[in-house]
Amino acid sequence: MYEIKDGKIELEHGSISEGLIAIASGKGGVGKSTVTANLAVALQNQGKNVGIIDADVHGFSIPRIIGIEEEVKVEQESELIHPAQKMGVKVISMGSFVNEKNPVIWRSPLLLGALQQFFQDVVWDELDYLLLDLPPGTGDMVLNIMQKLPHARTLIVTTPQVTATNVAGRVGHMAEKMDSEILGIIENMAYYECSECGNKEYIFGKNGGKELAKLLNVDLLGQLPLMKHVREGGDKGNPVVEEANNDDISREFNKIAEEVIKRKKEFDPSLEPMDLKGGPGQA
Ligand SMILES: Nc1ncnc2c1ncn2[C@@H]1O[C@H](COP(=O)(O)OP(=O)(O)O)[C@@H](O)[C@H]1O
Ligand SMILES: [Mg+2]
Ligand SMILES: [Zn+2]
Repeated sequence: MYEIKDGKIELEHGSISEGLIAIASGKGGVGKSTVTANLAVALQNQGKNVGIIDADVHGFSIPRIIGIEEEVKVEQESELIHPAQKMGVKVISMGSFVNEKNPVIWRSPLLLGALQQFFQDVVWDELDYLLLDLPPGTGDMVLNIMQKLPHARTLIVTTPQVTATNVAGRVGHMAEKMDSEILGIIENMAYYECSECGNKEYIFGKNGGKELAKLLNVDLLGQLPLMKHVREGGDKGNPVVEEANNDDISREFNKIAEEVIKRKKEFDPSLEPMDLKGGPGQA
């Protein structure tokens, strides 16, 4: 599937030098995809080369959030796949390969086969970071992906709400069990600041992400506010970091990107990625 050489992940058609990051959440709707897309843009703005694999089969949303209209290009003979790009970020969504009118029943082997194909057949070139938008929760698909990619570190997105941090905690414990290093916690929808008077309201509770970070003994990388234009930007394909890059949330995204970069490290050559026997589609 890939190899580690000189501390880098060597892919068939590219490499990853600083981080393979799986973005996880306990449940859907907490902003995992919004965070993935904006973090990618923030990293790219800091001079990094970034790719995203949209692997959340419960709702592919990265292309919509980041604003990708072009189709993924597949070369006829070689079947190599050229990712779509926006603001330099390369994006592959499993959703691009399925027909919207014929729902695919995603099971683990199918997802893993597609994932393996993306590592092998996508022309990524030289990436610093590859972000993976995982399905939410701790189901077998997530487990299988993490097992297959032992070099992936996990970034957990949660809202401060207790019900959200509880399920996010399960993701944390799963990552620990699988020996996937937790890169940190991102608390999304941490507060709402009134545009009239600047008063902060803690709509989903206060500091739940911070407490989760303490519980798991990992770092809280940032607390992102709830803002109307984040939702609007996501609907229109204008990630907020690109749209309005000097508001509270963009500054926080840029800070999170810096924190991620600070934690870059060489990939461990003693770990082995898992390969599917027989290749994609035959598992
Ligand atoms: N910080 C935020 N402020 C306002 N809206 C947000 C914020 N984060 C996410 N959203 C909105 O919440 C909804 C769910 O976000 P999404 O990223 O799709 O969640 P997930 O991937 O976890 O299911 C989207 O409509 C998105 O625009
Ligand atoms: Mg999502
Ligand atoms: Zn007010």
